[in-house]
Amino acid sequence: MKITVVGAGNVGATCADVLAYREVANEVVVVDIKEGLSEGKALDIWQKAPINLYDTRTIGSTNDYSKTAGSEVVVITSGIPRRPGMSRDDLIATNAGIVSSVTENVIQHSPNAMIIVVSNPLDVMTYAAHVTSKLPRTKVMGMAGILDTARYRAFLAEALNVSPKDIQAVLMGGHGDTMVPLPRYTTVGGIPVTELIDKTTLDAIIERTKKGGGELVKLMGTSAWYAPGSAAAQMVEAIVRDQRRVFPVCVQLDGEYGINNCYLGAPVILGKNGVEKIIELDLNDEEKELLEVSRGHVASVMEAYDKLKG
Ligand code: NAI
Ligand code: 2OP
Repeated sequence: MKITVVGAGNVGATCADVLAYREVANEVVVVDIKEGLSEGKALDIWQKAPINLYDTRTIGSTNDYSKTAGSEVVVITSGIPRRPGMSRDDLIATNAGIVSSVTENVIQHSPNAMIIVVSNPLDVMTYAAHVTSKLPRTKVMGMAGILDTARYRAFLAEALNVSPKDIQAVLMGGHGDTMVPLPRYTTVGGIPVTELIDKTTLDAIIERTKKGGGELVKLMGTSAWYAPGSAAAQMVEAIVRDQRRVFPVCVQLDGEYGINNCYLGAPVILGKNGVEKIIELDLNDEEKELLEVSRGHVASVMEAYDKLKG
């Protein structure tokens, strides 16, 4: 079984590495437009196999999509990342063209693949992959919620001095400052988080989570990759192993939460058919309002993409 990762940069190479050492597939193909980069990264990951004891073959390809033929899942990470001072939405003009052309190539060689988009602005790039591939919404999804909840869970684990393993959380909305963390659905070893932490500290953690991507861009001059690459690999694993994991994923809402034709983060069950089910939470008025703000923001960037496409 074959998985393709497009983009051999920071996020793509990390994702390919996690897929290889966890032996999620027999073969991981990494594609990049930059001559030699994917071949080099794939060779380096393969040379780590005797040390870390895995046998997934990793193969690089400079823009030759014939090597990706028959992929079960394709992860798209190609595109430019944010620099300090940029928002994710500033990337649309460049990344829309890249994601659309990559999707066309992917589908030509793997018409039955499922697509996981990582490139930013995430929700709208997932929409672009959906429009270009014409695949059903169950097979085209975006990675953001696992990353955003991981940041939230890590901050909570630090504040409470407990293991991050024991923090469960869900978060909805777009991948940006309007994302909607849901403290009502956050537990620590099964205990509602609100019983363990004061409101001021929790509010500060929520604010830090919303700006979590920007915090890393400020520190490093480019965006994060270890957690994003691992998060995308976790989605691939849930699909190919039919794990039916419950994750926040960027999906096309078509009636759920009273929202139509908008790519937005929501809790889903991920299994062998991709998005097996979108879980509808019974949101309260305040949560609904926050989700509506996020929807409005993503919808305006989707419109910008539609205009760019012509
Ligand atoms: P990077 O610059 O390290 O890697 C991007 C790679 O894409 C480069 O190697 C580049 O040569 C390649 N590329 C560009 N055009 C291509 C094309 N037409 N075909 C194939 N490859 C092409 O960037 P990084 O850090 O890996 O980030 C990648 C994307 O992921 C960015 O858009 C970033 O904003 C986004 N991102 C999204 C996250 C999320 O939570 N959804 C988290 C982190 C990053
Ligand atoms: C992140 O949240 C930039 O979307 C990327 O790290």
